[in-house]
Amino acid sequence: MTNKQISVLPGDGIGPEVTSVAVSILKAACAAYDVEIETDEYLFGGCSYEEHGTPVTDDTLEACLQSDAVLLGAVGGPKWDDLPGEDRPEAALLKLRKTLGTYTNLRPIKIYSALMGASSLKPEILDGTDILIVRELTGGIYFGEPRHTKEINGDVIATDTMVYSKSEIERVARKAFEAAQKRSENVCSVDKSNILDTSRLWRKTVSDLANDYPDVELNHMLVDNCAMQLVRNPKQFDVILTGNMFGDILSDEASMLTGSIGMLPSASIGNKTGLYEPVHGSAPDIAGQNKANPLATIASAAMLCRYSLNLPEAASNIERAIDEVLAAGYRSGDIHSGADSETLLSTELMGEQVLKSLLKPGSVPN
Ligand code: IPM
Ligand code: MG
Repeated sequence: MTNKQISVLPGDGIGPEVTSVAVSILKAACAAYDVEIETDEYLFGGCSYEEHGTPVTDDTLEACLQSDAVLLGAVGGPKWDDLPGEDRPEAALLKLRKTLGTYTNLRPIKIYSALMGASSLKPEILDGTDILIVRELTGGIYFGEPRHTKEINGDVIATDTMVYSKSEIERVARKAFEAAQKRSENVCSVDKSNILDTSRLWRKTVSDLANDYPDVELNHMLVDNCAMQLVRNPKQFDVILTGNMFGDILSDEASMLTGSIGMLPSASIGNKTGLYEPVHGSAPDIAGQNKANPLATIASAAMLCRYSLNLPEAASNIERAIDEVLAAGYRSGDIHSGADSETLLSTELMGEQVLKSLLKPGSVPN
């Protein structure tokens, strides 16, 4: 048995419900390959602010840094919306990403055939869509200085700064090219180079780097056009490479291709410790009701197996189990169409079905 140490940050809202289900599946999937998952849980986000007066303590950041991977639920809620910037739950997330140095965020947009009807797009537009969004995660306008709000001459002026360095662009672009080499060998780099200096540097840097990857086809697209193309013809994309804010917006848009943002996992990688979290938020309106869709967090646990534990089979087993559960008609509220062939399940029961499918005889070793 090998031991792996995972820091679990359930967070706020539906976070605790979806992470507890995902942790049990992670443990079972890894045990089949003789890897024992040890978890330590820490307060993170609004709940940490209530207890410690800060959305993340230095001790929690240090513990995350020392662990093999971090699994996060979601942060935020209306209760903390009016707090000043650095006390807000979201600030904890940015601090954690920066501390771990997870500069590459991978957001796969996978269409489950069982969910084709759950999307707002027509099946013939969706069929065959398989996109990986590679979002830069520790730079850009999310982190640029100066940032402040000031009263000047009786008016109020807020400033944010968008900054990218060549080296920051290069390191994330490499990850996108490498990912494309294992997929359909196509990278679409998305920017706003008709307006922004940062985007012009982005475009030039990515173009220059493409010489190192002659097997990968590179094209460039302006972000407004990309937003349109994602719903017009999503099949044209393989890997989408983009900056922090554009990636944030485009990935929420792309989640609708899958039918629900409750289906979208993510992996943030860079240095030693990776961070795994669903793309959705804390959904305070349904928190504590055992209604949330745990599949995005379960799929994030699969990515954790693949990228941080070097257990690709455990990852595939979890992903296969999700496929089977959906094919069998099990649904959480967000993806439930009301058809007779579907069974509406709670968060916990959805987790139990995934676990059952994961462990069914003959599907994992032992
Ligand atoms: C995401 C989220 C975060 C982001 C928020 C919660 C800070 O929207 O992971 O996409 O903007 O990065
Ligand atoms: Mg977002």
